[in-house]
Amino acid sequence: MTDTLLLGQTLCFSGDPFQAPWQEVTTHRRDGAVLLRGGQIAEVGARAALCQAHPGAKIVDYGADLIVPGFVDAHVHYPQTAIIASWGKRLIDWLNSYTFPEEMRLADPDYAAKIAGRYLDIALSHGTTTMASYCTSAPASVTAYFEAAQARGMRVVGGKTCMDRNAPDGLIDTAQSAYDDSKDLIDTWHGRGRLSYAITPRFSPTSTPEQLAALGGLWQERPDCLMQTHLSEQTEEIAWVRSLFPEARDYLETYAQFGLLGARGLYGHAIHLEPREIDQLADVGASVVHCPTSNTFIGSGLFDLMGLAQAGVSMGLATDIGGGSNFSMLRTMAAAYEVAQLRGQALHPAQLMWLASEGSAKALHLSGTIGHLGAGAEADLCILNLSSTTAIAQRYEHANDFWESLFPTVMMGDDRAIRQVWVAGVPV
Ligand code: GUN
Ligand code: ZN
Repeated sequence: MTDTLLLGQTLCFSGDPFQAPWQEVTTHRRDGAVLLRGGQIAEVGARAALCQAHPGAKIVDYGADLIVPGFVDAHVHYPQTAIIASWGKRLIDWLNSYTFPEEMRLADPDYAAKIAGRYLDIALSHGTTTMASYCTSAPASVTAYFEAAQARGMRVVGGKTCMDRNAPDGLIDTAQSAYDDSKDLIDTWHGRGRLSYAITPRFSPTSTPEQLAALGGLWQERPDCLMQTHLSEQTEEIAWVRSLFPEARDYLETYAQFGLLGARGLYGHAIHLEPREIDQLADVGASVVHCPTSNTFIGSGLFDLMGLAQAGVSMGLATDIGGGSNFSMLRTMAAAYEVAQLRGQALHPAQLMWLASEGSAKALHLSGTIGHLGAGAEADLCILNLSSTTAIAQRYEHANDFWESLFPTVMMGDDRAIRQVWVAGVPV
């Protein structure tokens, strides 16, 4: 087995920059090196030392480019790829006008395969190597997604979206069929190679209590699966949930009462939370997923990142395609920065980079496996050109330190900043 030695700048995290000062948990090397062996990272260190220790390694020199883990998108709807940037609606009307009609088209396995392949290729070209995606209610859309990921060697999470009310007939399942189909898909795909399954009730308004209970039961039978859903994204949605579940104290309780709250739970958006919900999310160790471009695009609100971090809630970062308006996790970091500014919070670039890699990986319970530049992690990598456009380069040129040289790419970068992506130790 030939070792590969990547040379460039490196940025590593030894801890969470929301829980400790970023200076204490980051290591930047201007002359860094990453040794790859058998699809994994074997070592990260100084260029001179690693070159000397591994004289037989094949060298790939990225110069001043920055080697980071491939980005991890913790909440996305791959079936919505073709309706990204659809104009003028808020959540419920956006779902009915654009999302549901498009999701119906993925019942056709050929169309689902086409969109799955298209989505994964776009994601890779933006430096994203892992995502947790909703599929549609058609099991064929899950098959298409996992087959497309398998063909690309990618580690991905996904699940069949379950909805047995308040959606068009063409997307509706039942409590029983959602349970049966999800269980079959878990048996087929969960833990196969780099694929894993997330039980996926879309959100409380589109599931009856019977369906939520059936899926809560399934999660209890398969506690090694993740569970993904939406929580408190828009105020109209919360009022709707209140009318559908009058006995529940709040939105989170509509999940908790049916066994759909747990440490392996991923709750997308989580903008308009009650103090009780925040405490409970922190207590059980569940993760919320920040979707900043979506939250501004559909007009949902300003996620309280620092407040939730201080409350000890685990957090991931996500594009939420196609409510989100960009496939790029760089653009998503920029939006997270802007939203935090509107709340009077200045996120450090270390915190933004951590969210898009380590934070999202932690939310997916894949810490140390992906989203991590360190020995033992899988070699899913993103090589960032920190002066990819004229506008970025002219700012980069007079940066005073590493963080100043990175921040223009975080704020203004897109797929042009992605010099190269590696998946499982293989360049894409
Ligand atoms: N809530 C329920 N479904 C969806 C969806 O597809 N996108 C977003 N942004 N919110 C949702
Ligand atoms: Zn979503």
